[in-house]
Amino acid sequence: MKKALRGSLLSYRDNPFVKPIEDCLLYEEDGLVVIEDGVIAAVGSAAALLPRLEADVPVIRYKKALICPGFIDCHVHYPQTEMIGAYGKQLIDWLNNYTFIVEQKFADKAHADEAAEVFLKELLRAGTTTASVFCTVSPVSVEAFFEVAERFNMRMLAGKVLMDRNAPPALCDTAQSGYDDSKALIEKWHDKGRLLYSITPRFAPTSSPEQMELTGALWREHSGTYLQSHVSENLAEIDWVRALFPNQRGYVDVYQHYGQLGPRAIYGHGVHFTEADFAAFSGTGTALAHCPTSNLFLGSGLFNMTAAMQGAYPVRTGLATDLGGGTNFSQLVTMNEAYKIAQLGGSSLNAHQAFYLATRGAAEALYLDDRIGSLTAGNEADIVVLDLRATDILKYRLSFAETLSEILFVLMMLGDDRVVRASYIAGEERYRRNSETGVETFILP
Ligand code: GUN
Ligand code: ZN
Repeated sequence: MKKALRGSLLSYRDNPFVKPIEDCLLYEEDGLVVIEDGVIAAVGSAAALLPRLEADVPVIRYKKALICPGFIDCHVHYPQTEMIGAYGKQLIDWLNNYTFIVEQKFADKAHADEAAEVFLKELLRAGTTTASVFCTVSPVSVEAFFEVAERFNMRMLAGKVLMDRNAPPALCDTAQSGYDDSKALIEKWHDKGRLLYSITPRFAPTSSPEQMELTGALWREHSGTYLQSHVSENLAEIDWVRALFPNQRGYVDVYQHYGQLGPRAIYGHGVHFTEADFAAFSGTGTALAHCPTSNLFLGSGLFNMTAAMQGAYPVRTGLATDLGGGTNFSQLVTMNEAYKIAQLGGSSLNAHQAFYLATRGAAEALYLDDRIGSLTAGNEADIVVLDLRATDILKYRLSFAETLSEILFVLMMLGDDRVVRASYIAGEERYRRNSETGVETFILP
């Protein structure tokens, strides 16, 4: 089935942290995205493309809206949806007091099924079409997640958490069972439809050296799979890693030693990175997921975006919510907090850079920019339509905005999931919100 979306198009061709915005931006005020069989067939001005379109192709027109590539959330925990906003603790206590209690429920398939569906509907509501997702240590939690993601036909990366120490017994696998269970899940799910498997050692403190060794081996043995974990999020965590791995120079060296850096590895946080850490990530093509709402909520620290994107050792970096350490599904809200973190660090994240981090930049961090993250012919048609009239205050404030940069900046300051007018997955509208009434509709298989 062929269709076209007409309206203002916004997308990025290149990285606005390193190139002038004119070289990066695709903006078409009256544009057309032609979609065929779930893929973008053409992108351009309506004036150029409409005359070439067959008369029977439906054209869906969006006025006072921006048609963008769907948002990508580079690091998020679906089982933590039920514990967003757990009060009062920093990372290690928060994990022990809240997270490790909740995650035990995910050995129950029915519980996991329900949470996966709630989570993926929240992503659609927020305009997020791809995410890199932590499940729990239980393979059942992975089955539940991939089943729902497959039904919705979403491009999702996910994996079973590997954890064989420093966690409750019910949440621990062993080095061998973690390897075997992950291998079976890879064989079943990796590259099935739009699904990709990400080998998921939770973080160095919860894996023994034996598990770290086998995890690196598993990743080497399955080319094309991903690896996701956490790094340098919290100062007490960093000290703990030093105590647990006295033979390594530091946190990043632990992952490097066990063969867990490289293309298609993505780590949450890197808040306390040194120049040497950036160099190791940069040199190996390893990516970072910047998780601003989480870093503020858990009091972890202020990520150095300038060093990550424009320093001597640039690192592929994408934006992420890190729910339930993070506090909001919306990448617009996440951009807002990323801006404030940059401000506290003495630099200003501009709106184009922020939108890039949630779309094309995130796709580059995941080595998926040839499939998602931009409005490019040949890419998968995962699209979000942002409503410039979503709320009274947005409408009023935007009536005074003059430039595209100003409009985008206002969107990331005042916007949230109410701004999402439609989310398209592989060309199919899966969610819509009526701007006049606020009524929401999910169109789910
Ligand atoms: N480090 C290890 N596990 C987690 C987690 O679930 N959330 C966050 N924010 N950090 C972690
Ligand atoms: Zn996390």
